[in-house]
Amino acid sequence: MENRVAPTLLRWYDRHARALPWRVPPGSGETPDPYRIWLSEVMLQQTTVAAVAPRFERFLARWPDVQALAAAPPADVMAEWAGLGYYSRARNLVACARLVAERGAFPAEEEQLRALPGLGAYIAAAVAAIGFGQRAVVVDANVERVVARLFAIDTPLPGARPAIRQATDGITPDERAGDFAQAMMDLGATICLPKAPRCLLCPLAGDCEARAQGRQGDLPVKPAKKARPERRGAAYWIECEGRVLLVTRPPRGTLGGMRALPDDGWSVRADGSGQPPFVGEWQALGTVRHGFTHFAIELAVLAHRGPLPPDLPHSLPMGEWVAPDRLESAGLPKLFALAAELALKP
Ligand code: ADE
Repeated sequence: MENRVAPTLLRWYDRHARALPWRVPPGSGETPDPYRIWLSEVMLQQTTVAAVAPRFERFLARWPDVQALAAAPPADVMAEWAGLGYYSRARNLVACARLVAERGAFPAEEEQLRALPGLGAYIAAAVAAIGFGQRAVVVDANVERVVARLFAIDTPLPGARPAIRQATDGITPDERAGDFAQAMMDLGATICLPKAPRCLLCPLAGDCEARAQGRQGDLPVKPAKKARPERRGAAYWIECEGRVLLVTRPPRGTLGGMRALPDDGWSVRADGSGQPPFVGEWQALGTVRHGFTHFAIELAVLAHRGPLPPDLPHSLPMGEWVAPDRLESAGLPKLFALAAELALKP
């Protein structure tokens, strides 16, 4: 069965490949641009295809090649990344672009790609295969699901990963490894769905061990979910003479390097015990919630509008005063964009 999978899947991909902005359509004869492939894979690593597509185009219009990105001020890149989440990706992006621009171009070998900032095993393999046509074993969550089902691998994740990787290696072709990887992703995203796989449409249904056993909906076996801790904190909308105070968060830690509203230090203390940066009339506007990977946060939003107290303490953080209608281009991450929305609600 192993040697049937790639040809069958590639034939399916030739007809059903999704048209995606970073993609070279199968059979088009175009040469993929490793910069576009790299950028798309970084964006797609934690974010959905639907969310990435428009942002990819916008990013590319602004920085069309790796030299342009290498010359960009990191703060601009952070702001452009706003809303995509997982901001360490954006920090690594600039670092990587600078290294690549210095050496002239992306390396084609998986091992050398792996050494670049922000390129883990998955992205290095994806860029080698899709960007350079190298044979590389590309395993993302979609591929993991397809392969666990195809071979009925029922060890719970993450313990199943080595077996899944080995099985993926066994079906990866020497030619068209990039199309094969993307075909696996498309199959996982459109047919081999997590809850209700559409086996009647699946080109691999006849070879699928899980389906033969009637277990396709139960694989892969997921680890028990850990409860995500809850944090509480506060953000401060400080508006004076038609402008609002924004700060830039410290480079390390949660939302590092991103613009934000001043806050009570929730990312460190997290117990809701923080105090506003100065004594005054604070209006409670409500709360906003956001989930990060390792915790969820409920943030109270408090507003101080009008003149600042005359003996303003040095406790007021340094920052920029921004007109509320310019907030969009400031690039606030989701949590603070929600807080700003609350403050701007009529
Ligand atoms: N998810 C991550 N990379 C992808 C790609 N190249 N095509 C489709 N979905 C993806």
